[in-house]
Amino acid sequence: MKKYSDYAHSSISMSKDSLFKETLNKLFTEYKIETIVECGTYLGLGSTSLLAEAILKNTTHYPDFITIEVDKKIYNEAVKNLKKYPFITPKWGLSVNAAEAKKFIQTDDAILHHENYPDVFIDYTDNPAEKYIEEIDGNLSKNFNQKESVFEKLTRLLTQKNKVLFEENILETISQSLNGKTTLFLLDSAGGIGYFEFLTVARLMKNKPHFIILDDIHHLKHFRSFRDLSNDTDNYTIINKSIENGWVVAKYKNS
Ligand SMILES: C[S@@+](CC[C@H](N)C(=O)[O-])C[C@H]1O[C@@H](n2cnc3c(N)ncnc32)[C@H](O)[C@@H]1O
Repeated sequence: MKKYSDYAHSSISMSKDSLFKETLNKLFTEYKIETIVECGTYLGLGSTSLLAEAILKNTTHYPDFITIEVDKKIYNEAVKNLKKYPFITPKWGLSVNAAEAKKFIQTDDAILHHENYPDVFIDYTDNPAEKYIEEIDGNLSKNFNQKESVFEKLTRLLTQKNKVLFEENILETISQSLNGKTTLFLLDSAGGIGYFEFLTVARLMKNKPHFIILDDIHHLKHFRSFRDLSNDTDNYTIINKSIENGWVVAKYKNS
């Protein structure tokens, strides 16, 4: 695979191109989306804020909106950044089961033999399995090396006092309480488990109304998820996509 940092449009945050914004407007005006589950909040300033602004612009009834971030330091920042959107619930935890996710990373042919996929991007060409496991262990910010401000320290101590508990397998837990509500999934977490996350959503949401947004469809994260969505024309309709900016928006049958 080729290094994602060499890509002209490379960014940790999702693209804010005008076609993506138009597609979100269409999604919220044409369909009644009752729940949103986002995997991979990062700082909350990318896809989370884009979705929030599209909701504010196009709906009067705000969906339940859960966004999941595994890295505690990044989660704390996101909580601050997302305060202005009271309908968003940031969660600190892992979208999937930790042991299963690690096994997926350690056995995935596309990670172990990434050189056999020359057209696909990857974040790390040197020992990617180890780096992706570090990320799902919540250590993405480890190398950011930022000094904690007084405000950050206070927030950290306050959230500790309020006992923010780490959860894993959040997708499964949420799926059990959806009760037929039309749900939008935005999948943008670690590159090494993007496909595992997609397969998890497809399994949990079989015959249930949902939409899927994938980021990084030309990357290890979702090149196979995008292939599966595109091939499964009995179940999924692609509403819009941008190969250049790496995203796709799809609708499950009867949603
Ligand atoms: C590509 S960034 C997300 C970017 C964000 N969607 C945006 O547009 O700004 C991926 C984030 O997902 C987090 N992450 C990785 N794997 C995760 C998982 N399985 N569950 C929850 N968060 C995860 C990482 O710590 C990182 O902050």
